[in-house]
Order: sequence, then C-alpha cells, then structure tokens
Amino acid sequence: MTNLADSLTKTADILKQSKFTMAFTGAGISVESGIPPFRGEHGLWNKYNQQVLDLGYFLNNPAHCWIYIRGIFYDFFADAKPNDAHRMLAKMESSKLLNAVVTQNIDNLHYQAGSETVYEFHGNSKKLKCLKCGHVYDARDIDFENIPPKCINDGEVLKPDFIFFGEGIPPDAYADSFAAAEKAEVCIIVGSTGEVTPASYVPRTAKQAGATIIEINPEKTIFTSAITDIHLKGKATEVLNQLGELLF
Ligand code: APR
Repeated sequence: MTNLADSLTKTADILKQSKFTMAFTGAGISVESGIPPFRGEHGLWNKYNQQVLDLGYFLNNPAHCWIYIRGIFYDFFADAKPNDAHRMLAKMESSKLLNAVVTQNIDNLHYQAGSETVYEFHGNSKKLKCLKCGHVYDARDIDFENIPPKCINDGEVLKPDFIFFGEGIPPDAYADSFAAAEKAEVCIIVGSTGEVTPASYVPRTAKQAGATIIEINPEKTIFTSAITDIHLKGKATEVLNQLGELLF
C-alpha cells in the first residue's frame, strides 16, 4: 500500500515526462474558496431543489427561479477568490507542465487564478444572456435587486450563461474538451464525483485513449475504482501544494 508521499513522488515523475497533460475539475476544487459542492454532506442539492436549474421550469417560472439562482450563484459566490489549488494549476500551465483545464465549474476561478487554456464545460456564471436577442451582459452590470433581470433591448428575461439541466453543452467547450482528452498522456481529476454526464465522459475518454489518471479527492468516487491509476487522497489545496514542492 503506497502512502501519499510515494504516490506524490510517482505523480511528479509522470507529470515531468508527460507531453500533454490536462486537468478535469469539479466543484471540489472550489470548496476551499468557500463555494459548497453540489453533492455530499454540505451539498447544495441537499438544500435547494435542482428544479430551479431545470431549463423548462425556468422558462415557465423565471421570477421564482431567479430568487434561488441569485441566492446560490450571485449573493454568496460573487466574491469567492481562487485558492492554492487553482493557482497551482495555473503555475503548472505557465511552466508547461499542464496544457489545458476542462472544468465543470461556472465560478470563473481558474481564469481569475491565471489559467489561460480553460474549457468551461458548463459555461460561466459571470455572463448573462437574453433568451430572445442573445445579447450578452456582464453579471457585474446587472442590478440583482430587480429580478428577474430583463434585456434592455426587448424586455425579455435574462438567463445566466451557464447550462441548466436539459440544456446542451456549449459546442466549442465540448469539442475542445474531448480533443484534449483524446491526446492527453495524463489527466488529473480534481474534486468531482463523476456523477454528471456528459462531463464525466471526458476523463473516461482520456483513459480509453491511454492516459494515466491521477485523482485528487478526499473521498473515493465512481472514477476511483473505474479509471483512476493514482488516487492522491486529500484536499485539493494540500495535495497540489505538496505536488508543487516536487515539481518546482
Ligand atoms: N478538495 C478536493 N475535492 C473535494 C474537496 C476538496 N477540498 N471537498 C470536496 N471534494 C470532492 C467531493 O468528495 C466530491 O467528490 O468534490 C466532489 C464534489 O462533487 P459534486 O458536488 O458532485 O461536484 P461535481 O462532480 O463537480 O458536480 C458536477 O453537477 O450539478 C451539477 O453542474 C453541476 O458542475 C456540476 C456537476
């Protein structure tokens, strides 16, 4: 049974040899920035009904949904800052040890940490879009006191520019994510249960294409027994800081 130190050393050696490394991140990488995960003991879906992010329900009940959408994604998280895990992935990218981040997260924290090649599989909460004319708004320009926010062009309800249940994945993010998975020699999964598709097919595609799968998570997940080669059991900031000490 190799301990964490052995696994970290092995992982660092693998990363230094890899010609194309990607990261696949989920809500767990932002937990230490104060953003709760969706599942697990403190999961958002224990407190809120997922219906508020169902596209059909939203279109019929925008005012009701916006009360929760504002509460979950704009009141609490607007001021969340990147943590050491986001920053370490950005440092790995600038040091040519990481080529791309595929994230399920909509919190914009990878960009804020300095990552440049980020594929946002579920979109980004920092933008809102008019459902009629398609005009895009920066969330910072929206008065969230008056909800649902309306388009200044045609008065239509604005929707956050992240995908709701029942909505398709942004085509460019989808294509770029699977292209990265096809050529990755290493895929580092950070903080995801792997329960949501088609996002969870990205690391699975990397595995099928021959990549070594490194998983950073304090818990076991459905990835762990299915595709993970090295499970670095622990919190994202702690594990990535220790990995950084071996890489730099
Ligand atoms: N460091 C690393 N991982 C952590 C940490 C931490 N500090 N804290 C929790 N985790 C792990 C949990 O063990 C869990 O495996 O993060 C994972 C969070 O799981 P989910 O909340 O299901 O997040 P995710 O897999 O990203 O969900 C996918 O579900 O509702 C949709 O669109 C939403 O993008 C989201 C998708």
